[in-house]
Amino acid sequence: MTEKNFIVPASEFNTQIAGSVNAKSPSNIALVKYWGKTSPQIPTNPSISYTLTQSFTETQLNFAPKKAEFSNISVRLNGEEQPNFVPKIQQFFDRIHAYAPYLQDFDFEIITSNSFPHSSGIASSASGMSALAKCLLLLEEKMLFFVENPLQRASFMARLGSGSACRSLYPGLVAWGKSSFLPQSSDLFAVPVDTKIHPIFTQFEDTILLIHEGSKSVSSTVGHQLMNGHPYAAKRFDEAKQNIGKLLEILQNGDLESFGNLCEHEALSLHAVMLMSKPPYILMMPNTIAVINKIWEFRKETNLPLFFTLDAGANIHLLYPTNEKEKIRDYIEKELLTYCQNGKAIYDFVNFENL
Ligand code: DP6
Repeated sequence: MTEKNFIVPASEFNTQIAGSVNAKSPSNIALVKYWGKTSPQIPTNPSISYTLTQSFTETQLNFAPKKAEFSNISVRLNGEEQPNFVPKIQQFFDRIHAYAPYLQDFDFEIITSNSFPHSSGIASSASGMSALAKCLLLLEEKMLFFVENPLQRASFMARLGSGSACRSLYPGLVAWGKSSFLPQSSDLFAVPVDTKIHPIFTQFEDTILLIHEGSKSVSSTVGHQLMNGHPYAAKRFDEAKQNIGKLLEILQNGDLESFGNLCEHEALSLHAVMLMSKPPYILMMPNTIAVINKIWEFRKETNLPLFFTLDAGANIHLLYPTNEKEKIRDYIEKELLTYCQNGKAIYDFVNFENL
């Protein structure tokens, strides 16, 4: 598959229609992280994520033939007009123009809401861009344009909105980026991890500790750029590539301890390269570090499989198998919630069902 396979001539679409489509899409949490990219949204290393359940975006896309020379785009989030979101959507539409030439013929109203609070510091780009890409596929269907593999096309488009978004089209474990360990994988779209998964990894919790609510001090788009010319970039990309192979083996053999070590190492590597970038960024907060130490202490004392991962921010994703939920939840509530800015966490879990 190349980019050319996704190009469709404008003549394929009847754009003289008005109406509305709706889509819902979840967020995901990367275990092996995507950090670094080249144009157009090509990852410098492959990544693997778990698709989540409770954290999602719902989007309604209203469309009508455009009235003026340029398309009008408006965005409402949780009922409020968001003019500052329009440039990001416009950039997305510009990037996919060759594949969705009909975009220039419509006025759009995007009405969207997240299941998680906007101020929570949870990135909404993965769920938001994947929900919008799904809406575009539904719009194409309304224009009587049918493709063989709509999920793949939606993932291809979502990637051009936000890299991590392309992984949100599939449930379970999802890979994005060409990897020698996954023959079906591609830099252009995500694919479901099709190897046999040990049952322990098919029912997994992700409790997100909201250590710091509010926006991050570095956007991921800026963050990825920090890897250009970074002295440790080659080593990081190489290690992430190897970690895909290691993770796939762990997912098959059910080795929880190695799983935790690998996820935590990935998260800390991401923050380590940020610490060493120019300019440097420290996205962990004192409470992020306090919780990491608590987790390590808890593990030493109890031998229970509680692990963490981090995104490019201060919040902590607590990863643990659902069959240990009771004991671990008790500990989270008694000992860890106190490190959250407002004592709040999001109790999410992995979704292996159809989305
Ligand atoms: C740390 O997908 O948000 O969450 O492609 O620029 O939109 P853009 O970046 P984005 O980056 C996500 C980075 C990460 C790791 C990951 O999800 O793999």
